Amino acid sequence: MKIRRLANEERPTTSWRLQEYAFERSPMPPEEGAKLRGYLPYHEGNITLVVEDGKETLAAVSVIPMRQNVRGTVHPMVGVSGVVSHPLARRQGHVRTLLTQLLGELRDEGYPISALYPFRPSFYGRFGFAALPQPRTVSFSPADLGEWLRADLPGELRWQRIRDGYDAHRALTERLLTSRHGFSLLPDYRDVQRREDDKRWIVSAWHDGEVVGAVTYTIDGHGGTLHADDLLTVNPLGRALLLQFFARHVDQVARISTVVAPDETPELWATDLATHTESRLSFPSSVAPMARLLSVDALRGLPTAPGRVRVDIVDDPFIAGTYLLDGVDGRLEVTHGPGAAPATATAPPVATLTAAGISALAYGVLDPDELPLRGFGTVPPEAATELRSLFPHAVPYLFTDF
Ligand SMILES: CC(C)(COP(=O)(O)OP(=O)(O)OC[C@H]1O[C@@H](n2cnc3c(N)ncnc32)[C@H](O)[C@@H]1OP(=O)(O)O)[C@@H](O)C(=O)NCCC(=O)NCCS
Repeated sequence: MKIRRLANEERPTTSWRLQEYAFERSPMPPEEGAKLRGYLPYHEGNITLVVEDGKETLAAVSVIPMRQNVRGTVHPMVGVSGVVSHPLARRQGHVRTLLTQLLGELRDEGYPISALYPFRPSFYGRFGFAALPQPRTVSFSPADLGEWLRADLPGELRWQRIRDGYDAHRALTERLLTSRHGFSLLPDYRDVQRREDDKRWIVSAWHDGEVVGAVTYTIDGHGGTLHADDLLTVNPLGRALLLQFFARHVDQVARISTVVAPDETPELWATDLATHTESRLSFPSSVAPMARLLSVDALRGLPTAPGRVRVDIVDDPFIAGTYLLDGVDGRLEVTHGPGAAPATATAPPVATLTAAGISALAYGVLDPDELPLRGFGTVPPEAATELRSLFPHAVPYLFTDF
């Protein structure tokens, strides 16, 4: 058995063959397979490890070098994708070997966090990933947005094909990356696929020369539905301008659906707006994202309230060990190694956590009291108080689908 990193041009004959089998209608007609080569530029910076037995590729794991905001700090993030093994080589530990090796290599190259969309959360739970909330889909009738038609709003709208409006979309997502917890962005070489596929309209809202909102969408026919992707806004004006645009479709479509952050409240967007908001999960095709820390250093310097706790992280190849987490002057200090277990007189309370447990706290999705109930560690009440102060509840919005 040999494990090695692939060169980009090797993908079609190695990892993509396994991915086609696992994720596409298969067997794939040869002409469709040939078309896939055209997608190689969108994978040029991805990193793929494969295991081979001399003749065949037995398993592959790929990652996309991304960026993600965790509580206000943007970190390099490993986006895991293309996890697959040969149908005759499954359940032999190949993916465990590849994923552990690749995450370790990327951690050493400076990526302190990782995120992914699982096919089944329990699989990635074994690798220390914690579940994050699923963005919501809201649908409503444009007729209910009538009040926005009469609103006199500052700013302007631009309506374009995505090939022409792509730069506004990228500028807005770059801005949201710096301001929204959990937001993540694909690298340029991958994100431009939106522009080059040119399968969407984009409407963008502008004020004082800056883009303050944008949404991409398709329409499935007259009297049908306007299917919008994520409704991206930086302020209420951006959202109002986009809702006004939707309202102008009252004679064209019966419904509008759009994706919103998990903590969005669409029922408050207008008076007499009848909304249906849902988050539907099913495996393997519609799943909420997951994320984990690959290095506890990602927490260093986070804005925080006072709190002091020792955390013993167990059962993990990347972050197992003893850490002292101390909120000093509004910032989190992380001490690892000998200084992490101070003398008895000043000893802080101690929590024992799994990688998924500390990751759930870092992303703000579980309360310390939930961790023991879910099998993510042991957290005495005094330690829970400190951890709650250091890691208050937060709602990550992982925007990118990858
Ligand atoms: C899912 C898949 C990638 C697993 O690959 P594999 O090589 O069989 O995985 P491994 O043998 O390395 O198993 C790793 C661990 O996951 C567990 N596992 C395997 N399949 C699982 C499943 N469907 N659900 C939960 N756990 C699973 C194994 O028991 C093993 O646990 P352990 O190491 O803690 O004992 C493979 O079955 C596959 O290619 N499926 C189709 C494509 C797919 O769904 N890919 C995932 C996309 S996100």
